[in-house]
Amino acid sequence: MKLTQAQIDTFNTEGWLFLPELFSPEEIAVLREESATVLAGDRPEIWREKNGAPRTAFASHTYNEAFAILGRHPRMINPVEQVFGEKVYMHQYKINAKAKFDGDVWQWHQDYGTWLRDDGMPEPRAMNISVFLDEVHPFNGALMLVPRSQSHGNLQAGHDKSTTAYPLWTLDNATVEKLVAEGGIVAPTGKPGGMLMFHGNLVHGSAGNITPYPRRIVYLTLNAVSNYIRKPTRATWIAHQDFAPIKPGADEELLQYARRHTSRQAAE
Ligand code: SIN
Ligand code: MN
Repeated sequence: MKLTQAQIDTFNTEGWLFLPELFSPEEIAVLREESATVLAGDRPEIWREKNGAPRTAFASHTYNEAFAILGRHPRMINPVEQVFGEKVYMHQYKINAKAKFDGDVWQWHQDYGTWLRDDGMPEPRAMNISVFLDEVHPFNGALMLVPRSQSHGNLQAGHDKSTTAYPLWTLDNATVEKLVAEGGIVAPTGKPGGMLMFHGNLVHGSAGNITPYPRRIVYLTLNAVSNYIRKPTRATWIAHQDFAPIKPGADEELLQYARRHTSRQAAE
């Protein structure tokens, strides 16, 4: 899959791009099923909210075949290679659960703020590319983006270790107010299978989820190979140190896996 020039131009100006229903219901069904198993796991890579609900599962591509296939899927890898003009490696991989009733907030932040300060990443030449596993509604903790905020570069941030179970370099209210006055807020919503990519300096956050609808999203953080991290401080399953370029798989690999999975279940 290749982005059109118009899509690349939109990304470069707005800092984000949303492609609704890029993955089919059959492809997403198997990821939803596997995500329930992953999020129920008891391993250090699964982080929980303060109330115990799953928040983030790191690095599931290293131990789950369906998520490994997604982690090399050409629909995820090719657009980012196209924007950066070089090969990419996996800097981080996570499933964010935003559990029904219990999913907690993600404060306003820029991802590159963490990649720079905690991982020693030289440039904002990494980005999140994500897939909706559940329908994202305006009311179940949709990701909110501040369009064009990436043009301000890396902003001053404070290290918030107490608001949620996840330490984050967050922006103060005055900064967010100024950026929102300029760019507004958008919250891409839609059916499972939508794909959202956004610039490492794009300001974003999400509210808590008090609805009965979970909002699981898988995020691949793909970093340009030449921009490998220089001063890692986090566990290798949070900020990976295998800088080998990802070799994209075949486009049909996930669908084939889903069909094998379904026929295995039918035989049981
Ligand atoms: C993030 O900002 O990395 C995740 C936010 C979310 O999943 O709502
Ligand atoms: Mn983020």
